[in-house]
Amino acid sequence: MIATSPAASLPPVTPRAAPSVSSDPFLAPVRGGGVRLLVVDDEETIRLALAKFLRLRGYEVHTAGTGVEALALLAAGPYEAMLCDVRMPGMSGVDLVPHAIDTCPDLAVLMLSAVNDAATATQALTRGALDYVTKPVELGDLQAAVERALGRRAAAVERKELDRRIREEVAARTTELEREKAALKQLTVSVVETLINAQEAKDVYLRGHSQRVADLGAQVASELGLDDDVVEDIRLAGRLHDVGKIGIREEVLNKPGRLAPDEYEHVKDHVRIGTEILAPLRHIIGPALQYVQDHHEHWGGGGYPRGLAGEEISLGGRILCACDAFDALTSRRPYREPLSRDATLDFLATQCGRQVEPMVLDALRTVVERRVLVFIDELHG
Ligand SMILES: [Fe+2]
Repeated sequence: MIATSPAASLPPVTPRAAPSVSSDPFLAPVRGGGVRLLVVDDEETIRLALAKFLRLRGYEVHTAGTGVEALALLAAGPYEAMLCDVRMPGMSGVDLVPHAIDTCPDLAVLMLSAVNDAATATQALTRGALDYVTKPVELGDLQAAVERALGRRAAAVERKELDRRIREEVAARTTELEREKAALKQLTVSVVETLINAQEAKDVYLRGHSQRVADLGAQVASELGLDDDVVEDIRLAGRLHDVGKIGIREEVLNKPGRLAPDEYEHVKDHVRIGTEILAPLRHIIGPALQYVQDHHEHWGGGGYPRGLAGEEISLGGRILCACDAFDALTSRRPYREPLSRDATLDFLATQCGRQVEPMVLDALRTVVERRVLVFIDELHG
């Protein structure tokens, strides 16, 4: 074990008037100011000598003879700094460093190393120690090293605190922005819904269609295991999908009976008109815009407006296509009674792989069959 040098042997402290200038570290101004230090050395003489010197410098000093003892004290902490011998029986100082920093994350660690053991001390630096002092310890050097380490620790704590405040500020502003974005989205959707409600109010047969397609589309999306935000985008697209009908002539929309070819072409235009109405809101409604544009595309091709097929069509568009068809067929029309659920599913089965995607149709069937079971349950509940 390393001994302190003659220069470091601790002179008795005799009360006397302090000289105006002195290089004696015992006479230097007291700086510790209640800072808690832990001295870890297996050699009691050195441990006590260092503790005595540091206490005289105003530090609150605790001592430990082993790594295990040191960790117990650190756990009961807090400590600002630890002076730690490199070579100790059992847990070495180098092994103690990472455990000590784990236990006390802001701890400034200063190693006490033999002159011929700088390599080991350097190894301790890679594990988180800030500096090392060679033995025999020069008390003046020790005090300077302790002050340096505490200064670096204070700077690190300040940086950490600053980082924490910045992260908090960023998180708070992000939350605020998200809230404003959600409010803006809600407001925008409400405005568009007003258009849709006005449109549906003029046609008793269309009333509630968008809301039902939205709810059914969201349930089918959930059944397919899509993420919650995708489910909500599909619900939103369901609400908005027919907004373009505002641009279709009423006598065509409300015509009781089969449409002439040019009238049918005019009705098809509602997708283009709807997409144009919603396009400026792209940054607010996100993928819902694409779903609206795709809601009349057919899985097997032959839909409109672009005649896409298969996975060229957005999944939201494929889901809305099936739900739109289901709601249209199960709704009353001026020229026919509503189809039953089973008759509608039978009809859609003939369109499987043509108008509707097989996977989506399976999920739609599961959802609407479950709805009836829930309804029966409620009746008997
Ligand atoms: Fe439509």
